[in-house]
Amino acid sequence: MPMFTTATGWVLETARSGYALGFNQAGLLTHRYWGPRLPHPDDYPSPPNPPGWASFNNPAQLTPEEFPGVEDLKFTEPCLKLSFADGVRNVVLRFDAAAVSEGETPELQLTMRDTVYPLLATLHYRVHTAYDLIERWVTLTNEGDTPITLERVFSAQWHLPPGDDYRLTHVTGRWLDEMHLRHERLDLGCKVLESRRLTTSHHHNPWFALDRGQANEDEGEVWFGALAWSGNWKIAAEVTDFNSTRVSIGLNDWDFAWQLKPGESFSTPACVAGYSRAGFGGASRLLHDYVRNVVLPHGQQPHKVLYNSWEATTFDVNTSGQIALAEVAAAMGVELFVLDDGWFHGRNNDTAALGDWWPDAVKFPDGLTPLIARVNALGMEFGLWVEPEMVNANSDLYRAHPDWVLHYPTRPRTEARNQLILNLARPDVQDHLIEKLDRLLRENNIAFIKWDMNRNVSEAGWPAAPGEQRELWVRYVEGVYRVWGTLRQRHPRVVWQSCSGGGGRADLGILRFADQIWVSDNTEPNARLGIQEGFSYIFPANTMEAWVTDMGADYLPLSFRFHVSMCGALGVGGHLLRWSESQRAEAAHWIARYKAIRPLVQQGDLYRLRSPQTHAFSAVQYMAKDKSAGVLFAFRTHLPLPSQLPPLCPRGLDPEARYEIEGVEGVRSGAGWMYGGISVELGDFDSTMRMVRRV
Ligand code: GLA
Repeated sequence: MPMFTTATGWVLETARSGYALGFNQAGLLTHRYWGPRLPHPDDYPSPPNPPGWASFNNPAQLTPEEFPGVEDLKFTEPCLKLSFADGVRNVVLRFDAAAVSEGETPELQLTMRDTVYPLLATLHYRVHTAYDLIERWVTLTNEGDTPITLERVFSAQWHLPPGDDYRLTHVTGRWLDEMHLRHERLDLGCKVLESRRLTTSHHHNPWFALDRGQANEDEGEVWFGALAWSGNWKIAAEVTDFNSTRVSIGLNDWDFAWQLKPGESFSTPACVAGYSRAGFGGASRLLHDYVRNVVLPHGQQPHKVLYNSWEATTFDVNTSGQIALAEVAAAMGVELFVLDDGWFHGRNNDTAALGDWWPDAVKFPDGLTPLIARVNALGMEFGLWVEPEMVNANSDLYRAHPDWVLHYPTRPRTEARNQLILNLARPDVQDHLIEKLDRLLRENNIAFIKWDMNRNVSEAGWPAAPGEQRELWVRYVEGVYRVWGTLRQRHPRVVWQSCSGGGGRADLGILRFADQIWVSDNTEPNARLGIQEGFSYIFPANTMEAWVTDMGADYLPLSFRFHVSMCGALGVGGHLLRWSESQRAEAAHWIARYKAIRPLVQQGDLYRLRSPQTHAFSAVQYMAKDKSAGVLFAFRTHLPLPSQLPPLCPRGLDPEARYEIEGVEGVRSGAGWMYGGISVELGDFDSTMRMVRRV
């Protein structure tokens, strides 16, 4: 049963996990349990009623509250921080009502009220049974007649089983260098990960995994979670002096304020969190399935092999040049041709034109139609790059609306890549973009849009704000979602890619609109192996756009470069006109092979066999859900001699069934392969792809 009430509260059960909460004797909404699903309802512990610790810590300080406000002698991270109109800044929430809705994704709604002020907080818990995930978010409603200033509203606080010796895993990086995995012991105090950049950022990602220091890819308890938000976010992982560990996650409270006016409600983004006993691999596969089946607009649709001409032609685009590339791409088996930057009015370099979203009359005198018609005649769909949130000072749009950008009137407007940020918190800016992009989609046969965002925030001012300027951080992202969501609704078949100078906007919020993510501007295949591995901790391979470009062409075989990109949604981005006939033929071979394994890679279960971030010899494997077939990729970068490669142990096979593995003699049971392993001989900068088949 996914959800039931016990004498002391509620139990939420997924296929393999249990989560319990309830009100304790002091009336605090208390965490009770999060771990493996237990056999009986009364196996779940009752809400704790801890004693205090002298006059310096009242019981509240030791109580693992689900959604703590500010009250009593309690000094751990609250989820809610606000000011009432009379200056009172304590918020004391107590139980009001509970409602349970059944269905495929059952939901528990707990309504709590402040004991004095007319503030209602509704805590939502939605159970995604098959994925062992619980989704939480919070809605606050002002039922009074004076405004309330919200200063922090997290989506959730997640409590780990008692203990102060957890290890935090997260990803970190920077432009061109995203997704490094970090594992660090959480010590007393608070470890904060965040973005203050207006967007998700290359530097950290709103995802966490915690274990007791012993979990590995295949085994061990892992608690993990991710926030569905594409703006400023915060994770505070806190270890207290009282042997407890918790993770708070939600909107960043840095420079945040929100006027909750009488009668209004405010909802946080959702956070999902889960529990797995199958190590980090198990945790990733749960998230992958959830993203594919629940979050993505076209999660089951195979993603086409695309060609993107950016690295070939940069801004130097025109109809005939793009057609020349498209003809080669089509002959290689490419299914989607994407025209990147440089196509719109006055765009010859990165100093001008952002904002003027119509075809450049010099480069495309008859618009995009002749190019699109040729691309379609070649059997491919057509895709286009846009960067809607940005504007160059040298553009018609900026000349007409200099007040539309984020700015402080008294300060210079800091440019980055020569561009400024349109204030998407403004409904008029949103409407303008909807109108312009909708027209582009209506007037052209466009199947794919790459939505880019190439800078972070500077002067976060909104002089004409109707109220509190600091609402900008949330209203901007909601504006992006509104523009994108409206266009998605009007053009439901279009597939979108989220790009922000590579992987600057990869999160579960944007994936409700975009099916694919441009993981990094770094397409050097050795670097890419590590970036792709970090990415795979959170996101499924069908979202991971991976192009074969000319990076690494001098020292890496084309097969290696293709194998790396075949681990995701394959694309090509090299200068095809400079590729030899034999390179094109080899590319055609790999593209055909990719199409054959595409269902395994894009929809299968992913197993990381050896980490490229820590080994020069790495491997990754994808298995069909029914375990009938799989594909394994192994890579060797540089290993100094003498070297001996350890056997690779495939994963995810049916132990009893019989399989063969390409390139290895004989048929063995799944158990035989998984425990006996296979030997793979590879020289430096060499790779192999092996099919796994049940016989
Ligand atoms: C960003 C993207 C690139 C490309 C350029 C175009 O850097 O990440 O893929 O689209 O912009 O200007």
